[in-house]
Amino acid sequence: MKTSLRGKWVLVTGASSGFGAAAARAFGAEGAKLLLGARRVDRLEQVAAESKKAGALESQFHELDVAKTRSVERFVGWVREKIGREGLHLLINNAGGAHGVETVAEGKDADWEAMIQSNVLGLLRMTRAALPSMPRDAGAMIINIGSVAGHTAYEGGSVYCAAKAGELQITRALRLELLGTGIRVGTVDPGLAETEFSIVRYKGDAAKAKKVYEGTHPLTAEDIAETLVWVATRPAHVNIDELIIKPVDQAAIGKVFRRT
Ligand SMILES: NC(=O)c1ccc[n+]([C@@H]2O[C@H](COP(=O)([O-])OP(=O)(O)OC[C@H]3O[C@@H](n4cnc5c(N)ncnc54)[C@H](OP(=O)(O)O)[C@@H]3O)[C@@H](O)[C@H]2O)c1
Repeated sequence: MKTSLRGKWVLVTGASSGFGAAAARAFGAEGAKLLLGARRVDRLEQVAAESKKAGALESQFHELDVAKTRSVERFVGWVREKIGREGLHLLINNAGGAHGVETVAEGKDADWEAMIQSNVLGLLRMTRAALPSMPRDAGAMIINIGSVAGHTAYEGGSVYCAAKAGELQITRALRLELLGTGIRVGTVDPGLAETEFSIVRYKGDAAKAKKVYEGTHPLTAEDIAETLVWVATRPAHVNIDELIIKPVDQAAIGKVFRRT
């Protein structure tokens, strides 16, 4: 039997834009109760209103910086207050992204540190803090957002690729560690998707970011959100371990079809 999300608590990190915001709307449409975190609280407020409109039974938000242990602890303390005696059904570790496109020879410490902090350590911190609130044997799930970059290296992507390869291995280790608890663990690994991802990577240079998607038909945030809902609504005994999703126009990283 399909797992219903109606009335269940769903926590989404990085819910202020892109996949996370679309996931909030999509899980809202399933009648879930949402707990949304990110650093831009004004954007979270907007997303919470949209997800409520889509059908969320509740949509609560709180500032969260996954790069800081204290922020994660404060956030999870707030989560515990909100859910009370109810369990946290779904944790979506989505917060993250890439910073810069420099080679290793030209790389900047601040970019390297930001990528490891959010994509790797942030995911670990959130998971450690949220696990005690997750019920056993009730179809609860942790979905981590990886990337095709975690499977294939490319020039200028060394640390982002390392971070997402780290995400993949943490997901695999966690699945082994949680065997017998009934808590499901999976990773959804997208390819080229048009969100604010490239704007962040190019440090606000919208023209450079736009070029990444020029002439091609990338995935949308909604495509990923729909996939996340599908993964989470499989029957409680079914675990989607690893799912790679790419646009048809992307045969591989760096092998993208562009209409001229
Ligand atoms: N778009 C793609 O092509 C693509 C492909 C594969 C994987 N991904 C991955 O998908 C995830 C979502 O990215 P997206 O494409 O939706 O990009 P996005 O639109 O830039 O969204 C990234 C989200 O992560 C949040 N975030 C970043 N650092 C954070 C931190 N330290 N603490 C809390 N929240 C943080 C941002 O919120 P605030 O800035 O408000 O904190 C934002 O909500 C990322 O993990 C990314 O690596 C993206």
